[in-house]
Amino acid sequence: MEKKRILVTGANGQLGKELRDLATQYKDADFLFVSREDLPIHHFDLVRNVFDSFKPHFCINAAAYTAVDKAETEQELAHLINAEAVGVLAAVSAAHDCRFVHVSTDYVYDGSQIGAHKESDATAPVSVYGKTKLEGEQLAMQLDPQSIVIRTSWV
Ligand SMILES: NC(=O)c1ccc[n+]([C@@H]2O[C@H](COP(=O)([O-])OP(=O)(O)OC[C@H]3O[C@@H](n4cnc5c(N)ncnc54)[C@H](OP(=O)(O)O)[C@@H]3O)[C@@H](O)[C@H]2O)c1
Repeated sequence: MEKKRILVTGANGQLGKELRDLATQYKDADFLFVSREDLPIHHFDLVRNVFDSFKPHFCINAAAYTAVDKAETEQELAHLINAEAVGVLAAVSAAHDCRFVHVSTDYVYDGSQIGAHKESDATAPVSVYGKTKLEGEQLAMQLDPQSIVIRTSWV
């Protein structure tokens, strides 16, 4: 049986490194871990090239602009990476029949609730980081409704 190919972006981040460690337990899958240097996700032609050559069955997006405070003054860059690039990853995944798995954050909520959130709770991001992450979620779902979006508070 053909091995499943799994592309993981943002491979040198906290989540990317955890996934790299976990991947050793999954011998029946072929992983391609790409760091920001290997695949800057905001370079859309490079994204398409990697999909064309690796032909992933799954793409896990662990790449993100995560500097919450700095995002307030780098709005365009945060938007490019957390929103636009996520949309492109989703669209390219859909075109390649690849399941897109995207990691988001509880910063999409306003932070006022004590305790766990439900998916159906109203989103109301108060920071640029939270707003760009929410927009990324929305683009992913619009451009590839098969996307899996995981909202978490920690990794
Ligand atoms: N850590 C948490 O507690 C937490 C909580 C909730 C949600 N999340 C979400 O989980 C995901 C992973 O977060 P993390 O904690 O692993 O963040 P991280 O440690 O900051 O890792 C993010 C990675 O993305 C890379 N990156 C940045 N811009 C890129 C670009 N344009 N193209 C490709 N790669 C790029 C970074 O590269 P450099 O290392 O070169 O900067 C870094 O390796 C994010 O979506 C984040 O929103 C994290």
